[in-house]
Parts: sequence; C-alpha cells; structure tokens
Amino acid sequence: MAESMKGLKRSHRCTEVGSELVGSEVTVMGWVQKSRNKGGIIFVDLRDRSGILQIIFEEANVGAEKYAKAEKLRSEFVIAVTGKVAKRAGAVNENIKTGDIEIIASDIRILSEAETPPFPIEENSKTKEELRLKYRYLDLRRPDLQKNIMLRSKVATLTRAFLAEEGFIEIETPTLCKSTPEGARDYLVPSRVHPGSFYALPQSPQIYKQLLMCSGYDRYFQIARCYRDEDLRADRQPEFTQIDMELSFVDVDDVIDVNERLLAKLFKETIGVEVSLPIQRMTYKEAMERFGSDKPDLRFGMELKDITDVVKNCEFVVFKGAIENGGSVRGINAKGQGDMPRKKIDALVDFAKGYGAKGLAYIAIQEDGSYKSSFAKFMTEEEMNNIVSAMEGEKGDLLLFAADKNKLVYDVLGALRVELAGKLGLLDKNEYRFVWITEFPLLEWSEELGRFQAMHHPFTMPMEEDLQYIDSDPGRVRAKAYDIVLNGNEIGGGSVRIHQNDIQEKMFEALGFTMEKAYEQFGFLLNAFKYGVPPHAGLAYGLDRLAMLMAKEDSIRDVIAFPKIKDASCLMSEAPNIVDEKQLEELGIKIISDIKEDTQ
Ligand code: AMO
Ligand code: AMP
Repeated sequence: MAESMKGLKRSHRCTEVGSELVGSEVTVMGWVQKSRNKGGIIFVDLRDRSGILQIIFEEANVGAEKYAKAEKLRSEFVIAVTGKVAKRAGAVNENIKTGDIEIIASDIRILSEAETPPFPIEENSKTKEELRLKYRYLDLRRPDLQKNIMLRSKVATLTRAFLAEEGFIEIETPTLCKSTPEGARDYLVPSRVHPGSFYALPQSPQIYKQLLMCSGYDRYFQIARCYRDEDLRADRQPEFTQIDMELSFVDVDDVIDVNERLLAKLFKETIGVEVSLPIQRMTYKEAMERFGSDKPDLRFGMELKDITDVVKNCEFVVFKGAIENGGSVRGINAKGQGDMPRKKIDALVDFAKGYGAKGLAYIAIQEDGSYKSSFAKFMTEEEMNNIVSAMEGEKGDLLLFAADKNKLVYDVLGALRVELAGKLGLLDKNEYRFVWITEFPLLEWSEELGRFQAMHHPFTMPMEEDLQYIDSDPGRVRAKAYDIVLNGNEIGGGSVRIHQNDIQEKMFEALGFTMEKAYEQFGFLLNAFKYGVPPHAGLAYGLDRLAMLMAKEDSIRDVIAFPKIKDASCLMSEAPNIVDEKQLEELGIKIISDIKEDTQ
C-alpha cells in the first residue's frame, strides 16, 4: 500500500548527505536501486537524481513493524527514510560520493510500490535503444541520461545569463507560422477556422528575428523549438532546439566575437574545457579542398590531396574521363594502413559507393616498397611513383583515390576520411577542436529544381566584392555566412542579412523568384524593410548537437528527454497517430484511403 508523505519533509538529496552530518538525523526520499537482506540487517541503496546513498535497516533501530516493511522493498519502490547519519561500518565504497557514510534508519514509508522494470535502471545500460525509448520515463531515470539532461539545462541557464549580461532580450516568436517553401520541408498544421488553409511550424525563427531588428529590439535571443520534415540521422531530429540570436548594427566580426565568448563560458563552466580564443577561421574553399567537407574535423590530419595535374596525361580511363569531364582526382593517405586486408579495402570501396562514387582506387605501399594497387596495370611505373610522391606516401601507407566531379570527390573523400579516423581510433571525445567556416557560396545549383538555391537562406548578404558577379556568374558569389564547427559537427550557423532592397531583389532574381512571388511569400518582411531597417546579422546553434558533444555522446537522442526515432515517430507515445473522423471533418480533411492503409 502506498503511503502518503504527510508530516514528512525531505531534508537532503541523497548525495547532499556527507560525513560532516555524522550523528544528525536526516530524511531522504527516492527510488530503491537495490535491496539486500543479509539476515537481520537490510542494506538498501537509495537513488535520486543526485546519486546513491546506503541505508541500513535493523530491527533494533526501526522496530518490528517497520523492519517488516523494509523486507518488502524491491527495485524502484519509492520510499522515504528517516535515520541517523553514521560512518560506514563496512568497507568504504570509493565509487560513490557517499561511500564513507550510511543512514541507520529509524523510520520508513513506502510511498509507491513498483513492478519489475523491463530493464535494469543503471549506468552504461546494454539495453537496446528501442526498448529504452519505449519506456523512456524509466530510461530517463538512468544516471547517464540524468547527467546529460542536467548538463543541457545548465547550458540553457548559462546561455540565458551570458546573453542577458551582453544586452540581449529574450523574445518568443510564433510557432504557428506561414509556410515558406524555401529550405527543408515544413510540418503543416491545418486550420479549423480557415478550412483548406494551413499553418507551418517554424523551421527557425529567422523571419521573425529579422522583423524584431526592424522593430528596434537590437540584440534578441530565444531558445527556440524548430521543426523540419527531413530525413533523420543521428544528429538530426524533426523537432530540435536552437539557441537563436540576432544583432543590429554589426558585421561578421561582432557576431563571432560575442559567440566565441559565449562558447568559452559554456565549455568552461559545464565541462571544464578551456576554449582558446580566438577560434580558428577557415574559408569554405579551403575546408573543401583540404578536408572535403564544410564541417571539417580538425582532430586529425589525413588531408585531401589534389593529384589531377599529376595524372592528367595517364591512360587510366577512370582518371582521364573524370578530368575530361571537368572533374578532378584527389586522394587521402591512410598512414600505416598499407597492410589492410583486401576485404577491409573492399568495405571502404562500398562505403565510397554509398556516397555516390563509382569506385575507389587505391595503392597499398608494401614494406618492401612495392605497390599493391587496383589500377597499376593502367599506369607506367613513373606515373605510379609520381602519384605516391604527390601523396607523400611512405612504406606501409594506404593511398585512396576518387575521380569524379569535384563535389562528389569531396563528398566521398570527406566522408571516407572521417570513417577511417573512426576505425583507426583517431577521434578523441575529450578533445574539442572548434573552427569557424566562412565565405560560403551564396547560392548552390539544384539539379532537382533546375535553378539556384540559397545555400543558407534568401536573406543572406553577398560579400561586397562579389556582388558584381550576381547576374553574370551567380555560383561564384560568396556570402557573409559563417558556421561554427566542432569536431566535424556543424553546431551553429548564421550570416549577415541583406538590408538593402536592390540587393534583395537581385537575390530573388538569382533564385528564380519574380518579385510578385517574393512578395507573396515574404511580403511582410519586404514591406517591413521599407520603413527603416538597421543592418543586422545573427546566428543559431543547435542546442542538441552542442549538448551531445559536451556530453560525449554519439547521438542527439541521448540529450533530448523525449526524442523521436528515424521514421520521426515516438516509440513511447506512439505519435503520430490516426485521429478521429470527427476531428478530420472539423478540419475539412479527407484521407485518401490507400495512403491511410500504406501508413498503418
Ligand atoms: P541552420 O539551418 O544552420 O540556421 O540551423 C542552425 C543550427 O541548428 C542545428 N540544426 C539541427 N539540429 C538538430 N536537428 C535538426 N534537424 C537540425 N537542423 C539544424 C544545427 C545548425 O547549425 N535561421 C538560421 C540561423 C541564422 O542564420 O541565424 C538557421 O536556422 O546545429
Ligand atoms: P575498373 O577498371 O573499373 O576495375 O576500375 C579500376 C579501379 O578504379 C577499381 O579499384 C575501381 O574501384 C576504381 N574506380 C572506378 N571508378 C572510380 C572513380 N570514379 N574514382 C576512383 N576510383 C575508381
């Protein structure tokens, strides 16, 4: 029977009880981690979010009736215990904070009984994630998740304090918004009052924060929930949280300055990591050429090398063809991997193919200096030697090459570089390497749309010196956009915004928008700009990604209380679900039957 806590008051959390309290009486409450009956003496490990405390029940101290209660205790029962703090009679447990003391119970109440949980509530659980997510409320009791969630909370609290100190104002923006098809796919919410019309959940507060700059709220921030209907990966959720900010009368350096200080404070005060400032900056072009990625992981080398010039006259059709098509041949040197078995190399080839490569050519330099290679037969000895020397290949190295259009070569080798680093144990989670990536292209060509797309968003300012190319060669224009990258993860991004009408018009033109269409979609922003708009710029972090890296986790699911899985569903609540006909009717929505069946 569950008892009430009437008349009882908790005096301490479990690990707030320390040896300085020996001899005094405390009342603690929490969950039974484990209970051992040693015949005449019962040891209970009591757990709350602070940690674990040992309780001792002896009949002589609690009396027969309460001792009988203690005998009933099982894992996850919720109890309240009053007793005296004592030095541990048995061996000190070095593994827990309260390892040198125990509570000699004089009273116990069972506040709630518990069924046996479907998996043990413990650190480093081996339980499958699926089961953990189904019973997320139990999973969240585990100390590792509790640590993560509390760390995340600390990040939010510190962020608020720092930004307030820097003169930022916290303002909430709507989550029922107008759908704007640029960017990822929107989540739509049907309107009952306007049948056939939909709100969109915001992909970010971008337009609102720019409007707030127009309204004079210089230095806004918000810890904002964002929604994007895109394919999910370990670092993506359909709903996620941004630390979002916007500043007026600033340029790139001002945004970077305040954010570097924010990052330094967060890392120091949460996990004790010193971020040395200023953080390194690298242009997009350099990042792509050296690392094949706009979010380079700088914890290790293995940089890409361009060997196009070295092989441009060779007879190997794979290389020759790629170069003739305007592409390139580039490689990476996996140091000391020359003895990698064929099977493992084949797995790397398959990995490369997963990124769209047609193949992956390699040279394994043997200890005797000879080469094992997938394409030596198409090359002269001199050509092979030239390639090896261009790659700074030494005995025992494995050289891997991709030949294709530049973008594909970068994608393949950029991904392969990280894959290999993981396999070779080069990714140290205790090392934090930050880098700002700057000078992103303003536009990228979309094969799918047959037009240019904004790489960041349509309000991003081109670099002044590149404005001259916006009509003649839009792909060449660089933007005043920046990403902050940590250990190969894009943890934040932002830009200086366009505040001049003529530039904005040119941008829409480049994106293939007529001004009518631009007004139809973004009219409220464009109109606002007519009434006096300050130059402004901003940035948003992915709080989930930031917390994931601080917590040294591999998935953002481990720092989100109630995350969704790959298909965007929630295993615990079973959202999304099919709703009543009546609800649909009110919204004027009819489900086409075969779609309904497919999704059931
Ligand atoms: P952006 O689209 O780069 O910029 O988003 C900012 C940051 O949000 C994180 N992020 C995500 N995290 C988890 N799941 C997702 N699906 C997801 N998508 C993005 C990333 C990313 O760096 N309005 C602009 C910011 C600005 O210009 O001020 C914006 O939203 O860490
Ligand atoms: P093949 O003559 O098709 O057997 O190719 C010889 C080698 O070149 C094999 O190791 C292929 O994996 C590799 N290869 C094929 N296409 C490419 C490419 N686009 N880039 C790099 N290597 C490739």
